[in-house]
Amino acid sequence: MATTPTTSRAIALEINGEAVEREVPASRLLVHLIRDDLDLTGTHIGCDTGNCGACTVHVDGVPVKSCMMLAVQADGTRVTTVEGLAPDGELTPLQEAFSKAHALQCGYCTPGMLMSASALLQSSPGPTEDEIKVALQGNICRCTGYWNIVEAVHEAARGGGEA
Ligand code: FES
Ligand code: FES
Repeated sequence: MATTPTTSRAIALEINGEAVEREVPASRLLVHLIRDDLDLTGTHIGCDTGNCGACTVHVDGVPVKSCMMLAVQADGTRVTTVEGLAPDGELTPLQEAFSKAHALQCGYCTPGMLMSASALLQSSPGPTEDEIKVALQGNICRCTGYWNIVEAVHEAARGGGEA
């Protein structure tokens, strides 16, 4: 007898320290689980094709473009979104540095920039300028010209490398 293809699956993961269990369609993207199901709208969608980096989150500490990952692939992982960087509402040193260095204008790219930069600072607290540029190369900003963003990451690193 032919079996009916499975169209949804139960997943369990941790998002910003909270246990989350959901039944999700097999085709659901992680970014839609985050934004639409969990209402964590700090993660942005800029292109939906893996190019802009606005949707970057951490999956088990690694920056990932969440429009390029299925929610079912995140089963069993630990996901951090931009909301998870400062869970008590106090800006992190990296966020402070973005503010001080005027590293944002419209802010659309900023959540993704912060997630890529914080992953860099967690793995390499004293990055060189080239390392910062490489870490941010998957994140597009159409406003700032990038220099202030690189400077903000440098400034956060000089302040102790705290993400
Ligand atoms: Fe995911 Fe642009 S929305 S890379
Ligand atoms: Fe507008 Fe980066 S601040 S896209």
